[in-house]
Amino acid sequence: MEELRFDPDRYEVRKLELEGKKIVYREYKDILYCRNPLDPIQKMNLFVPEAYYQEGHDLPYDLHTAPIFMSNTVGGYMPGPADEPGIDSHKGSLNLIFLALEHGYVVASAGVRGRTSGKKTTEFFEGSKEGILNEETGRMVGRAPAFIVDLKAAIRYLRYNKDLIPGDPEKIITNGTSAGGALSALAGASGNSPDYDTYLKQIGAVEERDEIFAASCYCPIHNLEHADSAYEWQFCGLNDYHRTKHQRLDDGSIIRVPDEGMMNDKQIEVSKQLKKLFPSYLNSLDLHNLNGKALELDENGEGSFKDYVKSYVLASADKEYRTLDTQKKMSGLMVQGSEIENQDYLLIEKGRVRDLDFERYVRKISRMKAAPAFDALDLSCPENEEFGDERVDGRHFTKFSHEHSTVNAEMADQKMIDRMNPLSFILKDHNGICKNWRIRHGAFDRDTSLAIPVILATALRNKGYDVDFCLPWGLPHSGEYDPEELFAWIDGLCLKSQ
Ligand code: DHB
Repeated sequence: MEELRFDPDRYEVRKLELEGKKIVYREYKDILYCRNPLDPIQKMNLFVPEAYYQEGHDLPYDLHTAPIFMSNTVGGYMPGPADEPGIDSHKGSLNLIFLALEHGYVVASAGVRGRTSGKKTTEFFEGSKEGILNEETGRMVGRAPAFIVDLKAAIRYLRYNKDLIPGDPEKIITNGTSAGGALSALAGASGNSPDYDTYLKQIGAVEERDEIFAASCYCPIHNLEHADSAYEWQFCGLNDYHRTKHQRLDDGSIIRVPDEGMMNDKQIEVSKQLKKLFPSYLNSLDLHNLNGKALELDENGEGSFKDYVKSYVLASADKEYRTLDTQKKMSGLMVQGSEIENQDYLLIEKGRVRDLDFERYVRKISRMKAAPAFDALDLSCPENEEFGDERVDGRHFTKFSHEHSTVNAEMADQKMIDRMNPLSFILKDHNGICKNWRIRHGAFDRDTSLAIPVILATALRNKGYDVDFCLPWGLPHSGEYDPEELFAWIDGLCLKSQ
């Protein structure tokens, strides 16, 4: 496949000076990573610190040992275009690509399709790249499992060109936030799986391994078929919901649109029914804590798993109480009113947070979504669209919402649901799962239940994978807020194996 050979000479040297920091790098733009793209977004940018081509630099790697940091711009299961170093205008600070290059990584930013590929949209989600409009091709070719197929094709491209590309394709670290965090987790869990072969063939991906070295996942919105019951396990009994939607205006700016209300009687009933479904799912996972103790729930949703989730919140609160990390380093991002000294549901003794009232904590962070949170009975959730295709605009992906559908909609194929869920690979001991995981989910994030990231981290640990997991205090649904710690984790893994 000569057209998918990387051309090392097709680059520009760029200099970028922002916020008092300067980077010089080689830019390889718009690399086609598959032979038969279905959408113009299927291109990759590759960036390399220019220092790797000069003598005597002081970066920790060289041209062939540098890890390849593979960040995506997916949010809301929308298309994630290839990105470049610069300012993240949503956050108002240097983006992770800039910082990763400055740190000495090779950066690969692959554009991937999403549920709105082919049509115009005003939606905006956390983790998305703003200001980029889809090309209106009219072909809805970005639904499940397109985003992971595209990322895999890009990973395969890097490995296929290992003798020509900068960086070490055996040290690929994927990264993403929210739906992009789910994408990163899927890349981490489903390495080399044949379940995507037909889709990879369809776009003309090269035949290569597509496993990765490590996955960094910020608030991954995944395990969608169990997210509704997990949500009600946490929020049932709270009937008021509070969310802010984002909308992209024609000039590219993002505005916030509040959406608040009370659940109606039917939604309250749905909440109760969904809550009842969670314990049997959780118990079926056969999870254990670090001491080997079984993590379970009784039929009311009480038990050792709940204590375990609570222990992560408690650890987070205690760390914040001792260090004020969030307040000092992320005051602009933290949820208003989350200052540790103002949380009256915490029991603080002798300078440590000793206990917390979980129900009051949940009330404090509040419910964001009405029931069901993900598989809407009328197909109005983004996830319903993700399970659509070129023929059918949206589908259900839970038995519950399929049975209670108000629009008589189809159910997605179970194989497709599995292709979208990292847990499906982890639970069946798939042998292409990456060894190294970093998972972060803000303690004030209510886009999905805390049970969801805890299940991911615990299932991985129980199977022997290395997982760095915590719930940073006070943070909402967000990502990439701790680049120094993220890079220290990557260096800890990569420098020790050099
Ligand atoms: C995202 C957020 C959600 O609440 C959701 O249901 C899906 C995706 C996101 O920010 O990517």
